[in-house]
Amino acid sequence: MGVGVTLEELDRDPHPVLARLRARTPACWVPEVGGWLVTGYAAATEVLLDALSFTVDDPRFTTARVTGASMLSLDGARHSRHRAAFARAFRPADARAWLGDFIGAEAARLVSAIRPHGQAELRTAFAGPFAAAVMAQALGLTSVGIPPGTVLAWYRDIVAAVAGLPAGELAPAGRATPAAAATVPVASFAELAAAVRAAMASGRAPLLSEAAQPGGLSAGEVTANAAVVLFGGIETTEGMICSAVLDMLSQPGAELGLGLSRAGSAALSPRGRDLDLLPGLIEESLRFEPAAAVVDRYATRDVALGGARIRAGDLVRVSLAGANRDPEIFADPDRFDPRRPEAARHLAFARGPHFCIDAHLARLEAVTALTALVAGLPGLRLDPGHPAEVRGLVFRKPGELRVRWD
Ligand code: HEM
Repeated sequence: MGVGVTLEELDRDPHPVLARLRARTPACWVPEVGGWLVTGYAAATEVLLDALSFTVDDPRFTTARVTGASMLSLDGARHSRHRAAFARAFRPADARAWLGDFIGAEAARLVSAIRPHGQAELRTAFAGPFAAAVMAQALGLTSVGIPPGTVLAWYRDIVAAVAGLPAGELAPAGRATPAAAATVPVASFAELAAAVRAAMASGRAPLLSEAAQPGGLSAGEVTANAAVVLFGGIETTEGMICSAVLDMLSQPGAELGLGLSRAGSAALSPRGRDLDLLPGLIEESLRFEPAAAVVDRYATRDVALGGARIRAGDLVRVSLAGANRDPEIFADPDRFDPRRPEAARHLAFARGPHFCIDAHLARLEAVTALTALVAGLPGLRLDPGHPAEVRGLVFRKPGELRVRWD
């Protein structure tokens, strides 16, 4: 049975719609999104943990048609093989030791560059370039002379190419035909692949060399996974940082102890800041407005989910944004509380075999970015003349985040 939902509502302000759907049933058929929309926390977790019944490995998943198969588009033993090759290098302690200094220096450099202007649009002047620089460094592309700006341009091009692909020729039962799985050539992806090969050959890209160790991945497989690491590491990180800054500057109570002011009020003194509040604030922001709001799975068999009867081949769209506001788990879920004890149960980084491989690096980037902004831009506040608006069906972020400082 369908329900009346518009894509415009889901794009602009999904939370009331998701609450309405969840109150009715945790998994609802929504024709406007072309499949089931899972809004309940328990049902979402069930889907994410059960890769045998709900897979990513389906020709309708368009990313793989540009990059080739990667950890993002595989399940089972093939997924484990791809993921393990990168997981070794992305171990939390290693990533911090290896990238921590670079991340701190890059955040400080970008803040210094904007400081004299007294105002900026933080998505394009800070969050996007910051996320791209960290990924270029992590993949070793900087070491072979590829500037972060080029990486960002390739990335935007590849995303546009993926978005422009039809989701496959669907057979009557809803399964894609094998022909839909053919890879599509994209010039920017070919340039990225050449840069990845050059970085591997230079011996100055430890992450890629580790992935290609004997018994590891082929050069083509390393390239496909490097591309999805870029996908994961740019768009969502940019969104995560922008939404966290927006929450920090606008949510009642979020500015407590940070020496910040809210839009329209006088700037507080930067003295007495309590930066220890930042990790809790970031976790709550990830719960409140996850940068990846929806992840897709395809049912491999007929299966019951939260009272719904899902058929083999159906598209099952897990609303991480919906699960993150399920009142069964999060008390008073529409209230932003930087000290919320259960905030870390959020699903912003998903769960199960595809749990974000770099959640710890993303958190490190967010804390470092917000610390650099608070410390380097005294009296940081939203620009009241340009209110920020978070938008997006799948990837959610403020398109513009205009701020001022003293
Ligand atoms: C350092 C930055 C990041 C990198 C390099 C990164 C990379 C990745 C990769 C490679 C995967 C695929 C893992 C797999 O399929 O086994 C993944 C999954 C995921 N990431 Fe991240 N990510 C980053 C930051 C983020 C952020 C900031 C968010 C959201 C706030 C996020 C949300 C997710 C989600 C929801 C998935 C699961 C996708 C699914 O289940 O279909 N990631 N990430």
